[in-house]
Amino acid sequence: MQTSDTEWMDKDLTKSLRVSVIGTGYLGTTHAAGMAELGHQVIGMDTDEDKVARLSAGQVPFYEPGLPELLQRGLASGRLSFTTDYAEVAAKADIHFVCVGTPQQFGNDAADLRYVDASMRSLAAELTTPCLVVGKSTVPAGTARRLASRLRQEAPAGDDVELAWNPEFLREGYAVQDTLQPDRLVFGVSTASSEQRLRDVYAKVISDNDCPVVVTDLATAELVKVAANSFLATKISFINAMAEICEITGADVTTLAEALGHDSRIGPRFLKAGLGFGGGCLPKDIRAFMARAEELGVVQAVAFLREVDAINLRRRARMIDLAVEELGGQVDGKRIGVWGASFKPDSDDIRDSPALDVASALQSRGADVGVYDPQAMDNARKKYPELGYCRSAVDAAEGADLILHLTEWEEFRMLEPQRLDGIIRSKHILDGRSALDPESWRAAGWTFRALGRP
Ligand code: UDX
Repeated sequence: MQTSDTEWMDKDLTKSLRVSVIGTGYLGTTHAAGMAELGHQVIGMDTDEDKVARLSAGQVPFYEPGLPELLQRGLASGRLSFTTDYAEVAAKADIHFVCVGTPQQFGNDAADLRYVDASMRSLAAELTTPCLVVGKSTVPAGTARRLASRLRQEAPAGDDVELAWNPEFLREGYAVQDTLQPDRLVFGVSTASSEQRLRDVYAKVISDNDCPVVVTDLATAELVKVAANSFLATKISFINAMAEICEITGADVTTLAEALGHDSRIGPRFLKAGLGFGGGCLPKDIRAFMARAEELGVVQAVAFLREVDAINLRRRARMIDLAVEELGGQVDGKRIGVWGASFKPDSDDIRDSPALDVASALQSRGADVGVYDPQAMDNARKKYPELGYCRSAVDAAEGADLILHLTEWEEFRMLEPQRLDGIIRSKHILDGRSALDPESWRAAGWTFRALGRP
């Protein structure tokens, strides 16, 4: 028998759980809207009143494809709301997901746990009834165990408050997809009842997508996230190390990566050579991992990450050297058009952005740099007010002596080189992401160079 839409909703709502999501950044906002989409009754919490007001009005304070629609659907369903009040969170939910940020400490490689500690403490003070607290933030090894005992000590409900760890692996630009159709779910739990509650929360995700669930202890669950990000960073730096070799031997790193990727043991993903990784996760997570390993006396186990980080930063230096070379050794007074500001395409996030790092280094050497990015202009302007900003990719090329392609937005790939005839001063382009087609640029009379390619 077929069920009507309303019957399905009613049936779904009977399984609806009372969920809170604490911290409404990239992760928390997506998680809250995703939980509401799954049919749960969700309250999102943040200490930032402005953010809460915007989210309550259906506005996502950052660029993430598909998320505004998901948020608005959640609000319209009546299943999603936001607050700044921990007491309301404790009263309205039995499962609390903690999604606050763990940035790099200032002047130090270790993770800054002040937001995790503060949110756990504020939440604990309000927990008077049995509940499950679920950490999602990326934390150093040993954090979950420490927090579990502190929660029990500080919460009025004492031993009736359990802690689980459920790391997230969402990528910016694909956050909605990664939340509703993840590759896998990891549940770090101490009891069978915590596992069952997490299975109930994610029942639809597990059944609709046949999503594998790895059930483990707290220590393993928190380590999965840092290990995954370390592996991804290592894969990128591996291919970028090969790019360094290619630059000396005249080999082509993109063809090398293609040939490696056909080996099913290696796989083609995360083998894109170029300016390397940036963003709010990979760089700070590998550094925090090294810092924690040192505290634990096992620094040798992750010593290779120091090299992974160094290779990554060397790509930025190499791009600057290439730009100087391309300008005939004279940067001062030259005009450089920079395409891309975000740390990767389909995001307005500029945290540790390789593109802006390169742009600002060239500007400080005396170049007149004009940046264009499809989404990250406002964020870039705030952090790098000294740079010039342009209305379009073509505008950035106006009178330029050199174009640097630093973030591989589709818009840049689609741009025909002929479009810049009569606009650019000197037809020189450096592709920092190996994403443009060298043949068509060369055919249009340009000097085209890319990292790791002949
Ligand atoms: C990453 C992880 O992928 C995700 O699982 C985790 O939850 C958060 O950190 P994200 O930071 O959104 O996600 O970006 P990702 O797509 O992983 O890219 C990271 C950086 O690596 C970007 O700067 C990207 O340009 C770069 N990159 C990626 C490469 O240089 N080459 C590649 O082949 C892939």
